[in-house]
Amino acid sequence: MVSRVIPVDAFDLVLFGATGDLARRKILPGLFHRFVVGQMPQEARIIGSARSAMARDAFVALTRESLLEFSPTAREQGEALERFLETINYVQVDASGEEGWQTLAKALRAGTVRAFYLSVSPSLFGPIARNLKEHGIATDQSRIVVEKPFGHDLASARVLNAELLQNFDEQQIFRIDHYLGKETVQNLMALRFANSLWEPLWNATHVDHVQITVAESLGVEGRGEYYDRSGAMRDMVQNHLMQLLCLIAMEPPSKFTSDSVRDEKVKVIEALEPVAQSDIVRGQYRARDGNGSYRDHAGDPNSTTESFIAIKVNIGNWRWAGTPFYLRTGKKLRARTSEIAIVFRDPPHMIFPKMEGRRGNAMILRLQPDEGITLRNTIKEPGPGGFRLAEVTMDMTFADALTQDAAPQDAYERLIMDVIRGDQTLFMRGDEVEAAWAWTDPLIEGWQDAGLKPAPYDPGGSGPEDSLMLLHREGRRWREIEE
Ligand code: BG6
Repeated sequence: MVSRVIPVDAFDLVLFGATGDLARRKILPGLFHRFVVGQMPQEARIIGSARSAMARDAFVALTRESLLEFSPTAREQGEALERFLETINYVQVDASGEEGWQTLAKALRAGTVRAFYLSVSPSLFGPIARNLKEHGIATDQSRIVVEKPFGHDLASARVLNAELLQNFDEQQIFRIDHYLGKETVQNLMALRFANSLWEPLWNATHVDHVQITVAESLGVEGRGEYYDRSGAMRDMVQNHLMQLLCLIAMEPPSKFTSDSVRDEKVKVIEALEPVAQSDIVRGQYRARDGNGSYRDHAGDPNSTTESFIAIKVNIGNWRWAGTPFYLRTGKKLRARTSEIAIVFRDPPHMIFPKMEGRRGNAMILRLQPDEGITLRNTIKEPGPGGFRLAEVTMDMTFADALTQDAAPQDAYERLIMDVIRGDQTLFMRGDEVEAAWAWTDPLIEGWQDAGLKPAPYDPGGSGPEDSLMLLHREGRRWREIEE
């Protein structure tokens, strides 16, 4: 089979925070996978950078170890692994001080695309950006990539934007939301804008409501300190779930360019209505069967941070007025599963006998596991004995429908290659992040001012009872959280 992978030009990628968890788990394995399929050329250079003194050999050994641990491909492709490691270098840099920058400058090649990946604390975004500029390392050909959290609220996001914009143009800034790199999320755009079937139905006249669920089975073990300052709202809703909502709700952009797409997403965020506290359910998982509670993991016996949140969101525009979007996400739930359900209205007049348990037409976009799209239809139950209805699912699982060569890649792989290509479509623009915080902040202030506490919930379920009620009281129900 002919590979459809198009190699990118040679690049120099400087990875700040190169010894950190994200670099080891996602970024280095992601680059390696692109190398194996021939997308990252042998002439590319990856320059790991961190505060600690380390010889090149030691960093190469660390990279080898990380790849063997986190990439099954690396365990199978020893020869490719060794060739990949040839592209690796290491420079010790003091992010906010003076040391190391000259050495880094010398390690980079003239005329090559430069990407600076900041897998570090946001407090270092500003200092690193400034140092890159002041030491003449950032060229017009350079890109800077920043990880979330992008701010803690609107004010801090504005500060981060200002710090970056002092030294880089918006066209050079790549704010990562790894959900945008997930295959189904990108497919949402293809589904909506490359087909004529769905667009006539994609509005409040035909869609009863939308459910967005991002459920995780793990708790916050090990990340308690960061998480306790964030909670599910800041950690997941302000960014990942917001992006999903935007892609479902946005108007068709006139072109598939980064700014046309992002312009439409910003309009959706600006159209989000304020949310009453009665439309928000927050939860916190409790201890069970010897497993610690959220508070144990967070290290604060009085924490009121939510590890689960469900919200009813209304979009105040012509397309969506009257169609609520229900968002929910949480830790320690029954399964790790993420999906979007577009639930359609019932036919206006039913001529058949009532079907017990009928749920009606729905399109389910499954993000993980088993990425794909299914469509729930009502049919006549086959066989004799009267006219009974049954529900069946039309299934388009990507793994079945596509060849192995086109099998979904990890979100990071796609996004890093987009950085090198200079394509910002799947990255958040500064105004977009700020708009998302502007909507999020008052909701958080609302529950803080009212002293509202999250409801305890059992691990392994679907969150607090009140989350079910959020839909029940309107005659709707969540889809089950299941693998
Ligand atoms: C991260 C959050 O952005 O996304 C984590 O900080 C969360 O708390 C993770 O677990 C979920 O990502 P994924 O790709 O595993 O669904």
